[in-house]
Amino acid sequence: MAARVTLRVPDRLLLGAYETALCGGWSPNTTRDVAPEQLAAIAAEPDAFIADLLGRGGRIRLNDGSEVDKIPGRTRWIFAQDRSDEPFVGSINLRWLEEPEGRPVEALPPHVLGHVGYSILPAFSGNGYATAALAAMLDEAREIGLSRIVITCDVENHASRRIIERNGGRFVESFSAPLYGSEPRLRFTIEIAP
Ligand SMILES: CC(C)(COP(=O)(O)OP(=O)(O)OC[C@H]1O[C@@H](n2cnc3c(N)ncnc32)[C@H](O)[C@@H]1OP(=O)(O)O)[C@@H](O)C(=O)NCCC(=O)NCCS
Repeated sequence: MAARVTLRVPDRLLLGAYETALCGGWSPNTTRDVAPEQLAAIAAEPDAFIADLLGRGGRIRLNDGSEVDKIPGRTRWIFAQDRSDEPFVGSINLRWLEEPEGRPVEALPPHVLGHVGYSILPAFSGNGYATAALAAMLDEAREIGLSRIVITCDVENHASRRIIERNGGRFVESFSAPLYGSEPRLRFTIEIAP
């Protein structure tokens, strides 16, 4: 049976489950371990942490220490609906660029490799949760007005490639992104049916 997940908007009630996952060594960011800085931010000002996660504007720090403007995005926390205790199982993020009047455009800035990133807690991997979460996030991308997304993964990340392809991903090319290391990566596109 297909895995069932809900994508929830982060809030204070859900924060405890998220914090527990961070304490266990999980990181929502696949290019950099952000767990220590997020735990510090939650301990200092939990409301500000949530507001920052949900808010537009502000700056983000890249792997090389430089800072850039945050682009519009949605972070959703993934809960397994097919388990009686509906545990927190991971996080998924959609980001995009838009024109001044708010219309989304397909292009991304050079430091953003793809429109979507996701990370599942190791304890819950292999259950179809990332595949289901990406499908649900594609629905949100459609709502936003995106008709095609770009998504990338490491060459060695066979599970992620499978997740992308099961969601309609079409392989485009291999490439490297020096900002995030020397390893080759794969770029895919997913057409979003209207
Ligand atoms: C990669 C990751 C997202 C997978 O999450 P998950 O919930 O276990 O993924 P799913 O169970 O939805 O699907 C995994 C698919 O890959 C397949 N798979 C797993 N390991 C594989 C391998 N070594 N080779 C080929 N396929 C593999 C599974 O069989 C499954 O396909 P199926 O449903 O057709 O059987 C998770 O391990 C993770 O968060 N890793 C760290 C962060 C990361 O890599 N994020 C992706 C960045 S692009």
